[in-house]
Parts: sequence; C-alpha cells; structure tokens
Amino acid sequence: MKILVIGSGGREHSLALKFKQDAKVSEVYCAPGNPLMAKDGIHCLDISMDDFPTLIDFAQKNNISWTFVGPEIPLFNGIVDAFQAAGLQIFGPSQLASRLESSKHFAKEVMQAQDVPTAAYVAYNNLVQAQAAVKSADFPLVIKADGPAAGKGVKIVQDLASALDFLEEIFSDHCYGSQNEVVIEEYLEGVEFSCFSLIGKGQVLHLPLAQDHKRAYDHDLGPNTGGMGAYSPVPFVSQSVFNEVVNRIVEPVLKEMAARDCPYYGVLYTGLILTQEGPKVIEFNTRFGDPETQVVLPLLGDNFAGVIDDLLHGRPSQLTVEADQVSLGVVLAAEGYPGTYQKDMVLDKLITKLPDGLQIYGAGVELREGHYEAMGGRILMLVAKGSSYEICRDQVYQFLGQHPIAGTFYRKDIGHWVLDKREGVG
Ligand code: AMP
Ligand code: GLY
Repeated sequence: MKILVIGSGGREHSLALKFKQDAKVSEVYCAPGNPLMAKDGIHCLDISMDDFPTLIDFAQKNNISWTFVGPEIPLFNGIVDAFQAAGLQIFGPSQLASRLESSKHFAKEVMQAQDVPTAAYVAYNNLVQAQAAVKSADFPLVIKADGPAAGKGVKIVQDLASALDFLEEIFSDHCYGSQNEVVIEEYLEGVEFSCFSLIGKGQVLHLPLAQDHKRAYDHDLGPNTGGMGAYSPVPFVSQSVFNEVVNRIVEPVLKEMAARDCPYYGVLYTGLILTQEGPKVIEFNTRFGDPETQVVLPLLGDNFAGVIDDLLHGRPSQLTVEADQVSLGVVLAAEGYPGTYQKDMVLDKLITKLPDGLQIYGAGVELREGHYEAMGGRILMLVAKGSSYEICRDQVYQFLGQHPIAGTFYRKDIGHWVLDKREGVG
C-alpha cells in the first residue's frame, strides 16, 4: 500500500511512522510534513493541505491506496467529500459530519437528542441575550465561542465581570473569528481524559485512552494550550467507566449522526471529564488529538495501516495493543507560547543525539542550511514507551535535562495524575 497523510505536526509524524511499520505499506507520503518526518524516511510533499486539487492529482498519479487526514481544518473545508468525488479512498468524516467539532451548538444538539451526559448548556446568538444570561447565572461557568477554529475561544469564568469581558471579546471585538454564537455551559469538576474511536463501515474500534495536559505550566496552571504532554493508557478510568463512554456516549452519537443523514466515518475524539456522576462530554473532535496520538499509537501493534484499510473496505478488523506497556511524552515549547513566542533556536543537539528507546516527533521544526531550528510554538515532542510511567518519565526528562535549549520550556510534571512524586525531574 501507498499512503498519504495530510498535515505537518507531531500527530501526523506519529501517524506516518506507525503506517510505515506495517509490512503491507511500501511508501508513506505526507503533505506538507516536516523535516523530522523526512529524517524518519517519510516522503514530505511541497503541497499545502488546503490545496485539494493538487493533493487529489498527486494521489491519482501516484496510485495512493488511501489518504488519512490529521488536522481538522481540511475536514471542515470538505477534503473527504472532494477526494471521494474524485473516486479516491480517504479516512475521515464528511464536511457535514465534521460539524460535530466545528459547531459546538450542533454537537450539543446531537448529544441532547440521545441524552448523552454532557454539561448543561444554552446557546445565544446575540450579545444582549448572552449578557442577560450570565447576569443571572452562578459561577464558575464556561463560555465557548462557537464556530470553526474557535479552539482558543473557551474560557472558564469565575465572576460576572470576566464573563462580560469575554462576551465583549467574542461578539464586539471578534477575537475568536467572525462567528456570532456562544455556548454557555455548566462547569464540570473532575479529571479530563480522551477516548479515540475509529469508525468504518459497520464497525467501531477503540484505542487505549490518553490524558493530555492542556495548561502551559506545572500544576495545571497558566493559559490553555494545544497540549503540553500526554500519557496512555489512563489507569484511573475503570473498564466500567470505559464501557459507559462507549455505550452511553460514542454509540448513541454515531446512531444520531446516521439518523441525521450525515453518518460518521473516521476518527472520533471524545473529550471527557470524569465527574462524581460519571463521565461527561466536554467536546468532540473529528480527528486524532495532538499530543495524545504520539503516546497512543506506540502502544499499538504494527498492523495499524492494515486496520485502517479494513475499515475503509468494510472488512472485520481488530486492533492489537501491547497491554503490558505504557507511554508518556513531553512537548518542548518556545518561550512565550501560547502567546507570541521565540523562534530560530538551534535544536541539533536534541535531534541528533537521541538515545535508543526515545522517539522524537517534530511540529514547529525547520531545516535550514543543515541545522534543525525552532519555528513554532510547540516545537517537538519526546516520547518513551516502557513497562511503567516512572521509567518513561525518567527517560524523557533525563534527556531533556541533559540537552537544554535556551528559549524553550517544557512542563516538568507530565503524568502527575499517575505519578506520586513531582520532584526529581527536569
Ligand atoms: P474545549 O475546546 O471545549 O475542549 O475546551 C477547552 C478546555 O476547557 C477543556 O479541555 C477543558 O479543560 C475546559 N472545559 C471545557 N468545557 C468545560 C466544562 N464544561 N467544565 C469544565 N472545564 C471545561
Ligand atoms: N490535545 C487536544 C487536541 O488535540 O485538541
């Protein structure tokens, strides 16, 4: 098989690498990819992930067996519909189905129709009504700007003044895009975790659970980010809670999507909070998580590409998981991230001295005149797999500690929910 991956980050790097491990795969291409993927033998293509006609042309001329979409924006823009219209196989949801991520209001409607446990909410499409709602609300509560690419437009507000400020930012200052809708929802208390499901024709497979660390700094402080580190599996989620996620959340949502004439295929990422009353949904994403993918995929057997191929062709399939292994990874970020961040730091000593057993996934890395340099907020991720979280943590932090890069930072407490000791790392 020849496979094309769309995207350029750590998630796509780990996907491409995993596909490459399958003996059935001869070549893996990535558009546009990144220089660390190229180092791992993945063919990076100078094609933008928004340029559907050129991507389709490449897939047709190079006999690509199927395409796997990493990030959400091409899905929102209809890449799956475009490839299918050209007669090509592609793993992901249609543009209509991707509303499960692009519209928080739509996702809430789908959940409500199936009585899926989630935070109580009301959606407002004008500032005055939203202001009136927060004036009579109890705090804390959560305000989410609706619409595509509004990932950063989520705030947990503790009082009326900050709620009113945030509403002004959304409706008047358009800080989170031009959309004019907010979802105001109940604040859920508990630990977060992520569930990834693969949906093919008549078949749903679930991957090991993962936990991301979304805040920028240690002890879960600081601003929300794309994710600063992750580990998998998540031992505090019991089999019965997992069954509840599948039976009360994932399956009913898939049933509802089919009933609404937009059947869901591809990856479904369910973001959850484990509350006193059980697991509740905080969001759906229509793609894999970044950085969760980088810790989940190493736990799978080498037949992952074969599984996706089975799902695309409606053949019964099964994931293989290394049940005695765990995985943990830490993101190296640029000083200033998630705000304005430093660039151009030379990363060679990290990248060229990687010991056996550690995997590096590139994100904001550029190769300039033979040197690897930082050019993104999240620069790269280091991931270890082993028999315990302690072993993995020590391996990653020892290496990061021995190869400091000025102008970068990383969290020192990744995995703290499953590791007692926070000291002695970094
Ligand atoms: P979202 O973009 O919906 O995933 O929200 C971003 C982050 O805000 C989540 O990862 C949670 O940490 C937090 N969050 C979102 N919704 C809620 C909620 N209802 N209760 C508590 N925290 C939330
Ligand atoms: N790690 C969070 C996300 O991928 O949305």
